[in-house]
Amino acid sequence: MIFANLEQLPPDPILGVTAAFRADPSPDKTDLGVGVYRDDRGETPVPAAVRDAERAMLAEQRTKTYVGPAGNPEFNQRIVELALGPLAAELRERTATIQTVGGCGALRLGAELIRASRPEAVVHVSDPTWANHEPLLGTSGLSLARYPYYDPATRGVAFEAMRDHFARLPVGSVVLLHACCHNPTGADLAPDEWRSLGDVIESRGLVPFVDLAYQGFGDDVEADVFGLRHLAARVPQFLLALSCSKNFGLYRERTGALAIVAGSPAVAGAIATHQARTARRMYSMPPDHGAAVAARLLGNPALRASWLGELGGMVARMKALRSLLAGRLAARRPEVDFSWLTRHRGMFSLTGLAATAIAELRERHHVYLPPDGRINLAGVSDDNVDRVADSLVAVMG
Ligand SMILES: Cc1ncc(COP(=O)(O)O)c(C=O)c1O
Repeated sequence: MIFANLEQLPPDPILGVTAAFRADPSPDKTDLGVGVYRDDRGETPVPAAVRDAERAMLAEQRTKTYVGPAGNPEFNQRIVELALGPLAAELRERTATIQTVGGCGALRLGAELIRASRPEAVVHVSDPTWANHEPLLGTSGLSLARYPYYDPATRGVAFEAMRDHFARLPVGSVVLLHACCHNPTGADLAPDEWRSLGDVIESRGLVPFVDLAYQGFGDDVEADVFGLRHLAARVPQFLLALSCSKNFGLYRERTGALAIVAGSPAVAGAIATHQARTARRMYSMPPDHGAAVAARLLGNPALRASWLGELGGMVARMKALRSLLAGRLAARRPEVDFSWLTRHRGMFSLTGLAATAIAELRERHHVYLPPDGRINLAGVSDDNVDRVADSLVAVMG
């Protein structure tokens, strides 16, 4: 039996929480573990502008013939422009972009290309980081290490430790950075910290690999890429993994891109050939639908304005939920500081709860969190906030 040697694997730490939640018959169950945005009805909407772009695209589409390993060139250009702004044009000759299977595909492909060019390179990821970063990057065969990032005492970035660590890394080390809305901590770098980190990255000759999975989910599409653009203006080479899953609501369409800015146009040209060949050997070509929709939306000023408005509404909701929950917790435990909830950005914050508390939340209160204690604020609503606050306070000790 060819597969007889495969043993049953434990459930994925995050997807496993969703499965356990589904199996719970309690009418009061609350899923704070899921990694997607939810509106006040608990649904993950497709933005109206995305639906409009989709309808128009389908009305015009006459063929579904192959597009090619690099995907949709308009999408590639527009999504990089959204991320880099005016710098995209300045860097165009030195940029090689390929459409990928979501942001995950971009991370994985980026790691494959680093490995092909410099197999001894070490990729340094934040401690902690998103649960899928290490599996995605490490499966390429590259060595991974962690840099200090989060200080549980302040619930903010341990910036000095991070910067000092970067200053000691060997020249050419790759550093994976969350552009905004750090997953899972919610703690982002301030503009001055990006500037100071840029000094170190530049002087040490480090290679940033920036993961931009939440552009527009922190404050807005411009503010969220301050750090990325700051680095892009300073360093000669970097990788950028882009995802349209959250901000365009295109999750299952698997829409993303990998842009690599190289030291020269000639190197960028060579990289483009390797991007295409690596993709061809793994899955041949990316799915078209989501990229065609996002390209159309970004190229149409009215759709783009409508989309930005809707995105702004999602951010306002997440910020309001942060204040709401912080307020309800503070009302129950006035001696505890919950202001970190409102300082954090994006959907996630780390609660800092121990494994026993997370188990108790699930078993006694039907509130579901992944094992790292990450909470998704978009799972909170006016209807459940008191129950969530009561449950968290009950297990906090
Ligand atoms: C930090 C981070 N990077 C990348 C991704 C990739 O998302 P996708 O492959 O769905 O585009 C995610 C998704 O949750 C994420 O949280």
